[in-house]
Amino acid sequence: MASKTLLLLPGDGIGTEIMVEVEKQIAILNDVSNAGFETEKALVGGSAYDAEGAPVSDATMTLAQAADAVLFGSVGGPKWDGVPYDKRPEAGLLRLRKEMELFANLRPAICYPALADASSLKREIIEGLDILILRELTGGVYFGEPKEIIDLPNGQKRAIDTQVYETYEIERIARAAFDLAKTRSGKVTSMEKRNVMKSGVFWNEVVTRIHKDEYPEMTLEHELADAGGMKLVKAPKQFDVIVTDNLFGDMLSDIAAMLTGSLGMLPSASLGAVDAKTGKRKALYEPVHGSAPDIAGTGKANPLAMIASLSMGLRYSFEMIREADALEAAIAETLEAGIRTVDVMAPGCSEVGTTGMGDAVAERFRAKLTA
Ligand code: NAD
Ligand code: IPM
Ligand code: MN
Repeated sequence: MASKTLLLLPGDGIGTEIMVEVEKQIAILNDVSNAGFETEKALVGGSAYDAEGAPVSDATMTLAQAADAVLFGSVGGPKWDGVPYDKRPEAGLLRLRKEMELFANLRPAICYPALADASSLKREIIEGLDILILRELTGGVYFGEPKEIIDLPNGQKRAIDTQVYETYEIERIARAAFDLAKTRSGKVTSMEKRNVMKSGVFWNEVVTRIHKDEYPEMTLEHELADAGGMKLVKAPKQFDVIVTDNLFGDMLSDIAAMLTGSLGMLPSASLGAVDAKTGKRKALYEPVHGSAPDIAGTGKANPLAMIASLSMGLRYSFEMIREADALEAAIAETLEAGIRTVDVMAPGCSEVGTTGMGDAVAERFRAKLTA
């Protein structure tokens, strides 16, 4: 089978710990399914800043641009609090997203049946939950200019971030939302704040036009993002695909994570446009959570968001649907067997650490691929 290149960027904190558990699953894919994955590893985030002077080096950017897919752990931590803004660990992730043009960030929030009691919400509110937050990832206030802190003549300072969206940016994320919804229930909810933001008015207009002109058979609803957040917690199952901007998507997906039991459960895929010549698209897969400095080094991190991010990679970059299904089933069965990391621990279950969870999934994954 032709080789497939994967660039592994473990990053900082628990990023390095959870990536080890993903490497176990990749080894199984190569061993049992002859998948032909070739992996290369590079530094990113604070560890790259310490060793290479930048949170992502030009050499690593070149590797990322050339890889069939990038697997990203997490970056950041208090050690780099004093580092200049453009060299902060998080700037490395933002550069990867921007330069690879990964505009579509898929953040599925699925409540595994075994975890229906691990959420802080009542079982009936989240049981069977399967929603997809589609976050615009390369525009908005994260990247708009000007972005600065300036000194004023009166001795005060002024801090400026700028929310900017152009037509094509909203059109392409809207199309991505409707295309994804086609494979699901057919319903898209767009969230913005058109009551206070010009960019919200424009976002609403463009999404409405794309719906009317190109996807009239589908259902489109609009919510103000604050009320949308409230409804996400009150009755999340009313949603299917939620499409929203970069900042609202960041916040709404952390909220959605808690519907699934833990931030340690939520994977994501960041996808670019399909290249008309090669039929391929650039892609980066990463958990929604960060480097969790409070538990880094304790061996307690939940690796399931990272492992499920690999599964999204199998699905979206390699069309390995059988393998993706097997990996997701292995995760579900591990949880059903009562094997839990501490963040999703429940009475009567057995607690394992990062390694124990990775091994438990690997054992079931191997069995499924062999069957
Ligand atoms: P965080 O996601 O790192 O942690 C929030 C809470 O969730 C913590 O209590 C943590 O222990 C817990 N948690 C997160 N992942 C977990 C896992 N896999 N298993 C068990 N518990 C888990 O967010 P934070 O504390 O706000 O940020 C810490 C650092 O991470 C910051 O520097 C931030 O910028 C960075 N960050 C990076 C990414 C990324 O790399 N994609 C994402 C979010 C935050
Ligand atoms: C995320 C993170 C990042 C973001 C940070 C680390 C730059 O919170 O991926 O959700 O804000 O996009
Ligand atoms: Mn976030």
